[in-house]
Amino acid sequence: MIVVTGGNGQLGRQIVQALKERVGTNFVVTVRDTAKAADLAAQGIAVRAGDFEKADEIAKGIEGADTILMMATVGPTEARVRQYKNLIDAAKRQGIKRIAFVGYLADQPQSPFPSTPSILQTLAYLKEQGFAPINLRNGNYAEAGLMTATRALASGKIVSPAGSGKISYVSRRDLARATARILTESGNEGKSFALTGPRAYGHAELAAMLSEATGKTIVYEDIPPEAYKAQLEAATTPPPLVAFMTGAAATVKGGYLSEVSYTIGDLTGIPAEDGLAFIKREIQKTLKA
Ligand SMILES: NC(=O)c1ccc[n+]([C@@H]2O[C@H](COP(=O)([O-])OP(=O)(O)OC[C@H]3O[C@@H](n4cnc5c(N)ncnc54)[C@H](OP(=O)(O)O)[C@@H]3O)[C@@H](O)[C@H]2O)c1
Repeated sequence: MIVVTGGNGQLGRQIVQALKERVGTNFVVTVRDTAKAADLAAQGIAVRAGDFEKADEIAKGIEGADTILMMATVGPTEARVRQYKNLIDAAKRQGIKRIAFVGYLADQPQSPFPSTPSILQTLAYLKEQGFAPINLRNGNYAEAGLMTATRALASGKIVSPAGSGKISYVSRRDLARATARILTESGNEGKSFALTGPRAYGHAELAAMLSEATGKTIVYEDIPPEAYKAQLEAATTPPPLVAFMTGAAATVKGGYLSEVSYTIGDLTGIPAEDGLAFIKREIQKTLKA
């Protein structure tokens, strides 16, 4: 039996729907607040409580599983690793062998992405505990690119110290289709899957596409990291968010999000949608509405 943890989030819900298409309702979803997942229960999916912070609760949540999808959470490294360990320790006690972890493409040891240490520490812990984790190296969400695009349309510019770094945007839906496949097929233990869109784009290309699609002039301003940080601080951005945003921009600039793979198409028979095409389509929908 498959247990999808964090099944009430934006990626989690897409995975739930993709799994439903493959195995009906023959799986379990854990969520932090079951009341917020009443619609999933109404579809006939078993919904259990599963806050990773509550060791006993998540242990109960995964009971009976043979495969667990371990959702990535948010927050400082120490908190995330503590949460993941609660799940991993419970899985080990219960003799559950197969864990797929929602990782990230920028998981190189030298990556400046703020969440990378939690990913690397968790994969190392899984291995220490005798698991052969399935590492889902998710690319940057196309939906995140859409948010950048939406802000750019309001201000006329994309401002970031990301240089000419590129991003292989991929939609949550495409990630979910591939994830459902990986979870339901045997033999993936110990493998890493780079799940990305079919091409990578820099902010200059995103700005050019937006200008062409909307008739407005959108420019990309590649500013020094210190100036970017100062701008965020002047806008009273909370310090952890400043650290996250500057780290994320450095990650793009360093090329850690530019890797392109065709794994989603290879796994599912349907290629991942091009990231820029996704953003353009969604922007055009908004403009027509
Ligand atoms: N690849 C990318 O571009 C990208 C971008 C942003 C984030 N991410 C990572 O990918 C994850 C999924 O993305 P998303 O868009 O689905 O984010 P999301 O909508 O914010 O969902 C996050 C999920 O994690 C769950 N969660 C948080 N803390 C938890 C805990 N202590 N115990 C159990 N579950 C917990 C949330 O539960 P509730 O529903 O109860 O809140 C929610 O289901 C994020 O959490 C983040 O780590 C990836």
